[in-house]
Amino acid sequence: MAEIAVYPGSFDPVTNGHLDIIKRSNNIFDKVIVAVFNNPTKRPLFDMEERVEMLERAVKDYDSVEVDCFAGLLTTYLKEKEAKVIVRGLRAVSDFESEFQMASMNKKLASDIETIFMMTSTEYAYLSSSIIKEVASFEGCVRDLIPEFIVDRLFERLKERDQLL
Ligand code: PNS
Repeated sequence: MAEIAVYPGSFDPVTNGHLDIIKRSNNIFDKVIVAVFNNPTKRPLFDMEERVEMLERAVKDYDSVEVDCFAGLLTTYLKEKEAKVIVRGLRAVSDFESEFQMASMNKKLASDIETIFMMTSTEYAYLSSSIIKEVASFEGCVRDLIPEFIVDRLFERLKERDQLL
């Protein structure tokens, strides 16, 4: 049976750190579903359709990577997709606590689903979508940290939202 892994996240927007994890997961699993979480409690910078579309463009060269979105519990989504593995990237020790909590809760909810952690490559270890947005909001350079085609879109969106400081 094909081993399907789900790589969930907010991806607001996707960074080169996320793409590093996707690329490496693609070398291990038969199929990787990058699943964008539709969080009803947060107002993202990019809406769901945009985040999915940006990811699709960023992973277009990987045949066995699919981009999708989900709402509700991650474990329910995995069951729908008949997937048994959640992939998460770990950047630093500071990620550990919240990741441990999420993985433990997911284990409690679905004991047959495993979370596996991949150490983010050191060149991306400090990257997150939040720090990208913060640097861009002060008009700092984010080139080489996110896909090239997203750079202008990011600045435009921050401007539209009056978030260029
Ligand atoms: O990119 P993020 O914001 O760190 O991703 C967090 C995400 C989407 C993986 C997490 O919030 C999640 O899985 N949410 C779905 C709701 C859920 O299943 N919650 C209970 C277990 S954590």
